[in-house]
Amino acid sequence: MDYIIKGGGRLRGEIGVYGAKNCALALLGATILTDDEVILNNCPQITDVDNMLKLLASMGKTVIRRGDEVKVSGALTTIEADSGLATLLRGSALILGSCIARYHQVTLPLPGGCAIGSRPMDIHLNGLEAFGVEVEFEEKQVQCKGVPREGYYRMRFASVGATENLLCCCSLTEGICELENCACEPEVVALEEMLVKMGVQIDGVGSSHLVIKGVKKLHGVYFDIIPDRIVAATYLSAAIASKGNITVTNCIPEHLGAFLGIIERHFDVKRYDTAIKLTVNNQPSGYGRIVTAPYPLFPTDMQSLLMSLAAFSNKGDTVIVEKLFENRLLHHANELNKMGANISVQGEFARITGSALKGADTQAQDLRGGAALVVAALNANGTSTIRGVEHINRGYVNLAENLRKLGANITEKE
Ligand code: EPU
Repeated sequence: MDYIIKGGGRLRGEIGVYGAKNCALALLGATILTDDEVILNNCPQITDVDNMLKLLASMGKTVIRRGDEVKVSGALTTIEADSGLATLLRGSALILGSCIARYHQVTLPLPGGCAIGSRPMDIHLNGLEAFGVEVEFEEKQVQCKGVPREGYYRMRFASVGATENLLCCCSLTEGICELENCACEPEVVALEEMLVKMGVQIDGVGSSHLVIKGVKKLHGVYFDIIPDRIVAATYLSAAIASKGNITVTNCIPEHLGAFLGIIERHFDVKRYDTAIKLTVNNQPSGYGRIVTAPYPLFPTDMQSLLMSLAAFSNKGDTVIVEKLFENRLLHHANELNKMGANISVQGEFARITGSALKGADTQAQDLRGGAALVVAALNANGTSTIRGVEHINRGYVNLAENLRKLGANITEKE
């Protein structure tokens, strides 16, 4: 599917944010820890979540979705993840820790590289080994076996997925498991909070040092998936692109702290408890130097959005340093340059000099880059085509329709 976008018109109005993809995927992985029913509210209807639900169902879980509510219950009937499904999304790796904890074994096809970078699994697997799990590589899959025992592991990097897997791995272990240099992203903290509700004792919830005291059996839970901070930043970026005036509701402004810190220097931003109001009259002359890093610093998932904003800023310079996913800069820069942007990339550095963008035929290379192309197209003079909308649909619910409600001129073409 393609999007056809005519730049121009100001976005106005109010738009609500739905549940976060990366929270939903982590919590769905954790449903394996119990046979009881886990009910997840505010579960976004996006391709990555649909595929994760299919994966759980293919392994024996009963999965029922009614609108934004998903109920998952029952035991697994196989500990071998279907390779067709598992390789569709990187998030499938998030079943690893729970399978080991509950079934003491798992076979997972290696998620492998993807468009944004090489994405190794060493921290996940070394961490499992630190808790007594045996890890064996076969041709295109990894096999893990063993009953996790108490232990200590310090991650060499605060990996979101590894923190989530290791938390789950330790949740059914009696004794003390200690994790250091953990990721503190809001999605990780939501998982910690759900595990506590299911019966795990965790000291240090929300911090980078977690002490986990597992229990023999966990029980079911009802849990609200947190709002998607990247979707909120996408709507705000779309408003900046169109010199708009919008209010984003059902979000947690604190979760967007690093992004808001930057845009507050240039635009009129009002933070409320669960909403952000933004009024844009002019484009700034560049955004300075931005370096991506783990939460609460500037997130890699908002880096492409910022590159788009910098591309149509008022002639000034912006430097972006991408520390996490090596391919995210170049792919997006190449597409923006087709719209007349002035971006040069060298390794992890991108230098962007603001210029007037014009409509062009572009290709979404990955989920976040695709959404950021939509933002650029809303600013460009003329009409743009964005191909590969399938990438965007992995993480956004009806992006085109939601932007249309705010006044964007955007249509879908099969
Ligand atoms: N890393 C390793 N070894 C590992 C794990 C990670 O070297 O074993 C490296 C990665 O290559 C990367 C850095 O550590 O350079 C951070 O990766 P992390 O493990 O934190 O990322 P992830 O868990 O694979 C999640 C999100 C990503 C998001 C990153 C960073 C999910 C399903 N995915 O990925 O989201 O960019 O954290 O915040 O939660 C997206 O939504 O588009 C997306 C890519």
